[in-house]
Amino acid sequence: GEREDGRPFKQRLLVVANRLPVSAIRKGEDSWSLEISAGGLVSALLGVKALEARWIGWAGVNVPDEIGQKALTKALAEKRCIPVFLDEEIVHQYYNGYCNNILWPLFHYLGLPQEDRLATTRSFQSQFEAYQKANQMFADVVNKHYEEGDVVWCHDYHLMFLPQCLKNYNPKMKVGWFLHTPFPSSEIHRTLPSRSELLHAVLAADLVGFHTYDYARHFVSACTRILGLEGTPEGVENQGKLTRVAAFPIGIDSERFIRALDLPQVKGHIKELQERFKGRKVMLGVDRLDMIKGIPQKILAFEKFLEENPDWRDKVVLLQIAVPTRTDVPEYQKLTSQVHEIVGRINGRFGTLATVPIHHLDCSLDFHKLCALYAVTDVALVTSLRDGMNLVSYEFVACQDKKKGVLILSEFAGAAQSLGAGAILVNPWNITEVAAAIDKALNMKSEEREKRHKHNFKHVTTHTAQEWAETFVSELNDTIDEAQLRTKQ
Ligand code: G6P
Repeated sequence: GEREDGRPFKQRLLVVANRLPVSAIRKGEDSWSLEISAGGLVSALLGVKALEARWIGWAGVNVPDEIGQKALTKALAEKRCIPVFLDEEIVHQYYNGYCNNILWPLFHYLGLPQEDRLATTRSFQSQFEAYQKANQMFADVVNKHYEEGDVVWCHDYHLMFLPQCLKNYNPKMKVGWFLHTPFPSSEIHRTLPSRSELLHAVLAADLVGFHTYDYARHFVSACTRILGLEGTPEGVENQGKLTRVAAFPIGIDSERFIRALDLPQVKGHIKELQERFKGRKVMLGVDRLDMIKGIPQKILAFEKFLEENPDWRDKVVLLQIAVPTRTDVPEYQKLTSQVHEIVGRINGRFGTLATVPIHHLDCSLDFHKLCALYAVTDVALVTSLRDGMNLVSYEFVACQDKKKGVLILSEFAGAAQSLGAGAILVNPWNITEVAAAIDKALNMKSEEREKRHKHNFKHVTTHTAQEWAETFVSELNDTIDEAQLRTKQ
């Protein structure tokens, strides 16, 4: 749209997420080096021309001193980012504790912490309080930067209290909340001690979004069963106020991946990789080293495949990129050593003097190397035990227009609903089934591969991150606020 003076009108969007899309490294008392991580969300919002996005979140570092905080705030402002400073104790209780040891596993159907039950139960309340406190700290920063007419978009399980905190400040603020993880069945959600408080806090938003229709339905039924509220096809009604609830499946900036494949350095990487793995089929896994990703199960399925197909042993290699994550949470530390043990055992069992069947890397790859890896892969293995959407599957498809490789995809990833027709869907817990899927994928004729790829490629290139963001924000703008409703009545 345009303003009266003819200049284009840009609506300001405040994007609030636990983590800012930058990594900050301290170089001196008052100097910082910043690196933008051009993840999906960033490129999605850059693509929406009618919006001017500002980011509010934690910079991922502890900055106890005022000089450091001032310098970081200034450096971040140039990138349109506004920091929320969290001290070590809050990070421990809110981020490591309540977010990643309680909510994250629960929302992925892994249940509440089982071991050391008493200790967890005892610290539960203090972690929950830290979670509320942290959410209030985010709200304070948002409120300080809010201007009339802005829309506020809150992201993910870290910030379920934020909609309520914001509406407490200003009931007229347009507030949306989007969950990037699954929302579990109400039978799972109701085990959470603070189940009702969280639902009420989210319902303060004007629009609540999920990746799939199933997650939205689970949320509405949790509100019905746990809070006794009425669920309608539009959302949830509470004392005459409607909170709109809907599905908005995310996508990727597919053009960015497709364009990268034409860059000389990416072509160079592709050539190197082809040389390196000549004569062998390449299977690829790219995951954060997280228990929801089903990495041990995937590797055990690959072992079973090698066991049953001796002819394939020197003709196939599995590259597993396992990006370290949340390394202060004990469950993640345990997983790392478990995966290392399994990989070591299998490489010992099937390796030769010349080569090993599994290349396991504990690191992330830069964007260009990642694109090259996607492009040379014959079979991608995305076998999450649960996953909100999983965009690795999308990125792989975007890079495969030449090769037309096969995607093996967990039926418990949100992406199964969009890429199911082109992928081989598996139950990741069933190792026999996954081993059979590997066999099928490696032997698939090119005609069938092409047909399957075409379906997925079309989906990935037409359901982009940009379209996702645009749709969410425009629906948020269309929600009728209570003040408006009251004047109508
Ligand atoms: C998931 C969550 C994101 C989170 C990301 C990385 O995708 O949905 O909110 O940012 O994991 O995890 P981290 O804990 O490092 O931010």
